[in-house]
Amino acid sequence: MFKEFGPSLWISDGPVVTANMGFRYPTRMAVIRLKDGGLVIWSPVAASPALVGAVTSLGAPRFIVAPNTLHHLFLQEWAESFPAADIFGPRALAQKRSDIAFAGFLEDEAVVAQWSGEIERVVVDGNRIMTEVVFFHPDSGTAIFTDLIQHFERSWFSGWRGAVARLDAMQGAEPAVPRKFRVAFSDRAATREKVGRILQWPTVQVLFAHGAPVRRDGQAFLKRAFAWLY
Ligand SMILES: [Fe+2]
Repeated sequence: MFKEFGPSLWISDGPVVTANMGFRYPTRMAVIRLKDGGLVIWSPVAASPALVGAVTSLGAPRFIVAPNTLHHLFLQEWAESFPAADIFGPRALAQKRSDIAFAGFLEDEAVVAQWSGEIERVVVDGNRIMTEVVFFHPDSGTAIFTDLIQHFERSWFSGWRGAVARLDAMQGAEPAVPRKFRVAFSDRAATREKVGRILQWPTVQVLFAHGAPVRRDGQAFLKRAFAWLY
């Protein structure tokens, strides 16, 4: 159910979800175990009893994280499974999901200080479509993206959706920043500063919510993925 992706890092692929305009997306969640045994549940997929049980076997679920303003569909069911866990997300998500009791926001240094030295993050905001928080897990050298970089097999979308996905750079030779996100940054200089911090990480592997992960030379991959910004 969970595949080990690196030391103290696991991933699990969930059921396909249908988003706006009938676009179908594969889903993926990740779990990071902190040194004290606490678990950070990143971008949870639909919570089946088996999946919830598998998480419990990895450690003590302590944080449930919505990494961007688009991935929030399953937060509530995980919160019901683990009522003692804190739910964190970008501040803008609280406006969209006022029904969710956020314990803190990922923009706040005091919130992420709890993971100091074990998980780093850069808030990529200033985008008209979404705010995404990109994480780095130094123990496994893994940068963790949600939607800001994505990739689909050529056969995944068909008909007009395939045409849209190709125009949006979602089905190229390697994972990419969809064009709709590239043009939605209002201040490119500010975005370069944020992405510049991401590019400094000694990234080996790169995870995405949608698309096959990059397993090596992640820092070089990320430089290619953001070349359009520079
Ligand atoms: Fe997504």
